[in-house]
Amino acid sequence: MIQVLRTPAEMKAFRKSLKGSVGFVPTMGALHAGHEELLKRAQKDCDHVVLSIFVNPTQFNDPKDLEKYPATWDSDFAMAEKNKVTAIFFPKYVDMYPDNYRYKVIENEFSKLLCGKDRPGHFDGVLSVVMKLFNIVSPTKAFFGEKDFQQLTLIKDMVQTFFMDLEVVPVATIREADGLAMSSRNVRLSAEDRAKAPAIYAAITKSQSAAEATEKLTSQGFKVDYVTDIGKRRFVAAKLGEVRLIDNVEI
Ligand code: PAJ
Repeated sequence: MIQVLRTPAEMKAFRKSLKGSVGFVPTMGALHAGHEELLKRAQKDCDHVVLSIFVNPTQFNDPKDLEKYPATWDSDFAMAEKNKVTAIFFPKYVDMYPDNYRYKVIENEFSKLLCGKDRPGHFDGVLSVVMKLFNIVSPTKAFFGEKDFQQLTLIKDMVQTFFMDLEVVPVATIREADGLAMSSRNVRLSAEDRAKAPAIYAAITKSQSAAEATEKLTSQGFKVDYVTDIGKRRFVAAKLGEVRLIDNVEI
């Protein structure tokens, strides 16, 4: 039987009762095959898996985006059961932010680029909640998708910077058959936009340069926030209607 813990105090007490290693998969729910891959990897590597589901308001700078975030508890729970999760941490805002977000974790360089440029404060919200979650769950390993490569990089860097005692494990991006990176946002695309969306992956893998990828996407009706090459990776964020999609690949 999966344990569902609703407060940090309950979660901490339950964690103390667990023997062996704990793999942690933090999410905002609306679980899909991408999240499931993280659960599978955690299950393979660790004695116990803890899943958290918390739609973190401090990382949303668009209130509409937060409002529209899908809540799918029943299917999330079913996926947790299927993947033999030991516990689900499912807290409320007031319990996660007793200070009402007076204290934050802020990174001042990489977090201001790419997704941080168009979404001020986004990564402060992500890093702050992830540090809280790590302190509550005390995982041996925590699993993050390369789908959100900037997030993964910043979290790894935070763990190193603050000498936190856990290992951050990256997991490769899971895609639909047509190449579109799985995302909780994909269900918000109209049928027409869903048919267009695989062009994002096609453009970043098949173009010679970031500029060429931008041009291709713009001509197909995307509103491109950025296509940028950093080191060996190409990053993209583009909008179809109201829906903002991101992806990245090794180049
Ligand atoms: P969320 O978007 O729910 O994603 C949870 C985890 O699933 C992240 O590590 C993300 O990179 C991973 N993921 C999402 N889609 C994936 C895909 N197609 N393939 C592989 N992994 C994928 O990211 C967050 O939540 C939040 O910012 C969070 C870290 C929970 C902090 O609030």
